[in-house]
Amino acid sequence: MLEDKYGRKFHYLRLSVTDVCNFSCNYCLPDGYQCDTQRDFLTLDEIRTTATAFAGLGTSKIRITGGEPSLRKDLTDIIEICASIRGIEHVAMTSNGYQLEKDAERWVDAGLTSLNISIDSLDPRMFEVITGHDRLQSILRGVEKAIALGLKVKVNVVLMKQYNLATLQTFMDWVRNTPVTLRFIELMQTGDNLNFFTQNHVSGEALKKHVIERGWGKVISDKTAGPAHEFQHPGYAGRLGFITPYSKNFCDTCNRLRISARGKLHLCLFAEYGLDVRSYMQIGDIQGLQTRLRSLLEDKDATHYLHEGYAGATTHLAMLGG
Ligand code: 5AD
Ligand code: SF4
Repeated sequence: MLEDKYGRKFHYLRLSVTDVCNFSCNYCLPDGYQCDTQRDFLTLDEIRTTATAFAGLGTSKIRITGGEPSLRKDLTDIIEICASIRGIEHVAMTSNGYQLEKDAERWVDAGLTSLNISIDSLDPRMFEVITGHDRLQSILRGVEKAIALGLKVKVNVVLMKQYNLATLQTFMDWVRNTPVTLRFIELMQTGDNLNFFTQNHVSGEALKKHVIERGWGKVISDKTAGPAHEFQHPGYAGRLGFITPYSKNFCDTCNRLRISARGKLHLCLFAEYGLDVRSYMQIGDIQGLQTRLRSLLEDKDATHYLHEGYAGATTHLAMLGG
């Protein structure tokens, strides 16, 4: 099992398969994806080597992320490879939902077990203002389809003071009958969004208090769960979750490592740089990769430095998929 010097165990890998995204979310890629580097993303063989190496070190859950993973034509193969590896029990994916309605079935057939979809507003006009795309209705139909296919679905909402904070009630009404976990994510500062961050960051803690006062009770989370605090309510089919990276002790329960689309290990979402491990992937050296991963993990810091206004080398989250 991969463990760091603070006793944290890492059984969860977030694997980015592309950093290209076709949306231009105002907090992430307001000017859209800038194609300034070669698109030499991990190949299927490299992905297999990586997933096998991590599984051998105790990883039981892989999340496929991007950019937008569904922009890869071989996404179904990627899911299938991850799902076929011994020890990998959960294959999750984070997506903007662009292809969901069309491809959900194919993904489930390939072995996908859960899905996180970003929906920052339930108002089609506001959705378009935030993402640059008029796709809300198709994405909502995709969510229904994913639920019907038996996927565990989480919906991510980035809280923004000037955009969606006033519409929280609409989200709450939606989960009354929709069995998804709706997770409010505190806006994080990245290298690219400082002004936007200053104008739009709101703490999730106040909102959490608000829902507790309205009868929502905390759910005890299992070992592969993320850092979200989840709540349920007898009158609601869905759950609520809060991801509050600016709250105290957020990093204590960190259980994930990240591999970028070009094969770098990121010990933290906000690490100073990615550590190159691609050479092992390229030659299919599973053991070599495992030894290297173990040794690199010795340097994982106790926490990020977001509180001090330091976002490391992360210019936007499309780089690593959150
Ligand atoms: N702050 C918070 N969440 C972000 N995401 C992307 N950029 C940011 C940011 N600056 C979210 C996306 C998606 C997840 C992968 O990360 O909305 O839900
Ligand atoms: Fe939006 Fe995600 Fe694309 Fe960033 S990577 S622009 S958050 S859909």
